[in-house]
Amino acid sequence: MRETWIVGAASNRFGKMAETGREAATRVAFEAIRQSGLEPKDIDYTFVSNCFGMAEKQGHVGPLINGGLGIPNVPSCTIESACSSSSAALHEAFVHVAGGFADAALVVGVEKLSQLDTLTATSYFAEAADYAFETRNGATFPGLYATLANAYLHQYPMRPEVLGSVAVKAHANAVHNPHAHFRKAISMETYLNSPMIASPLRLYDCCPFSDGAAAVVVAAKESVPHPSMEPLVVRASARAGSITDMQDRPDLLGLPATRVAAEKAFRQAHLEPRQIDFLEVHDCFTIAELLALEDLGFFPRGSAGKAEIEGVTAHDGALPVNPDGGLKAKGHPVSATGASQVVEIFEQVNGKAHGREVPRTETALAHNVGATGGSCSVHIFSRR
Ligand SMILES: CC(C)(COP(=O)(O)OP(=O)(O)OC[C@H]1O[C@@H](n2cnc3c(N)ncnc32)[C@H](O)[C@@H]1OP(=O)(O)O)[C@@H](O)C(=O)NCCC(=O)NCCS
Repeated sequence: MRETWIVGAASNRFGKMAETGREAATRVAFEAIRQSGLEPKDIDYTFVSNCFGMAEKQGHVGPLINGGLGIPNVPSCTIESACSSSSAALHEAFVHVAGGFADAALVVGVEKLSQLDTLTATSYFAEAADYAFETRNGATFPGLYATLANAYLHQYPMRPEVLGSVAVKAHANAVHNPHAHFRKAISMETYLNSPMIASPLRLYDCCPFSDGAAAVVVAAKESVPHPSMEPLVVRASARAGSITDMQDRPDLLGLPATRVAAEKAFRQAHLEPRQIDFLEVHDCFTIAELLALEDLGFFPRGSAGKAEIEGVTAHDGALPVNPDGGLKAKGHPVSATGASQVVEIFEQVNGKAHGREVPRTETALAHNVGATGGSCSVHIFSRR
C-alpha cells in the first residue's frame, strides 16, 4: 500500500444553505483542491455522498460537480451509507489511492434538507432504519436512540446532568467554529429546561437537521511533493457493519459496528487508544457520544459520563472530543458529516481552529456511524 495523505479539507457553514447542494458541493470541492496545491485536472476519481438528493429533485450529482470543476471526464460515483456516507466515500478514496488505482481522489459530501418540515425530514431519515421491522412500526431516530439511552441508564443510572454535559460542551466548542450550525453556548439550566423529544432525550440531546457540504482531497504521498498545508497521514481506514434491528442485537449497551471498526483501525495503525490526542465522534444524540467513547476503547463501559462531567473531553481537556461542536452543535448534514470531521482534524493540525485548539495534534481519530450502527467507519490520522 502507498502512503496516503489528506492534503486539503474544506467545509461551508452548516445550517440553512441559500445555494443548491450541487453549488455548495462544487464550491467546497474547489476550496479543498486549492488548499492541496493540486489542480482539478489532477483528480482521478470523485467519490460523492448525497443521501437525499431527491429532496432537491437531483440525483447523480457527481458528474455535475465534476462538470463545475472543469473535469467532466473524471469518473464519479455516489456512495450511500446513511449518516456515515462520506466516511465510506473516504474509505473508497483511500483504497483507490493506497492501492495505486488513483493518485488523487476527491471526496465530497453534501445534503440540503432545510426545504422540508421536521415531520417530512424525520420520515426521510427513518428510511435508513429497517422499514419492515422498525420504520413501519413508527420508529424514528430520536426514538431509536432514546431506546439505547434507556437501556444504558437502566444498567448505569446517572443524573440528567451527565448527558447534559455532552450538550453544554458541544455548544461551547461550536461558538468558536465558523462552520457550525449553532454558534450559541447553552447553560446546564437551559439544557434541563429544554423540551422532551423522546424520553430521556431532550431538545439539546439531539443533533439538528442541517444543510451542509464538505470536501476532502486524498492523495498519494509521491504525487504531492510540496503540499501547501500540513497533510494528515491516513494511518487507518476501517469499516464495519452490524445487525440493523435493535431487537436482534445481543445487547444495547453499545454499537457492535463501532467495536469491530475500532479494533481493525487500531490494528492497522499499530496504535492504542492512549496514543490518540483528540477525537471526532458521532454524537447524533448525546448518548451516542458516551457509547462511542466506550466502544472505541477510551473508557470502560459505564464510565464515559464521568469523564464528560469532569471536563476530560473539553477542547482543552486530557482527551478532547468534538472540538468542532460535534453533530450536536456544528450540525449534521448527514452526507457531509464524515468529511466534515476530517475538516476539523485538518484545521486543528494546521493551526486554523482558533478558540477551540486542542493541546496536542500528533494523532487523531474520526468515528462516523450510519443509522443506529448498521455501518461504521473509523479513521486514524497522524502528522508526517
Ligand atoms: C429535535 C428536533 C425534533 C427539533 O425539531 P423541531 O421541534 O421541529 O424544531 P424546529 O425546527 O421547529 O426549531 C425550533 C427551534 O429549536 C432550534 N432547534 C431545532 N433543533 C435543535 C437541536 N437539535 N438542538 C438545538 N436547537 C434546535 C431551532 O433552531 C429553532 O430555534 P429558534 O426558535 O431560535 O429559531 C429535530 O431537530 C430532530 O429531529 N433532530 C434529530 C435529527 C435526526 O434524527 N438526525 C439523524 C440522527 S441519526
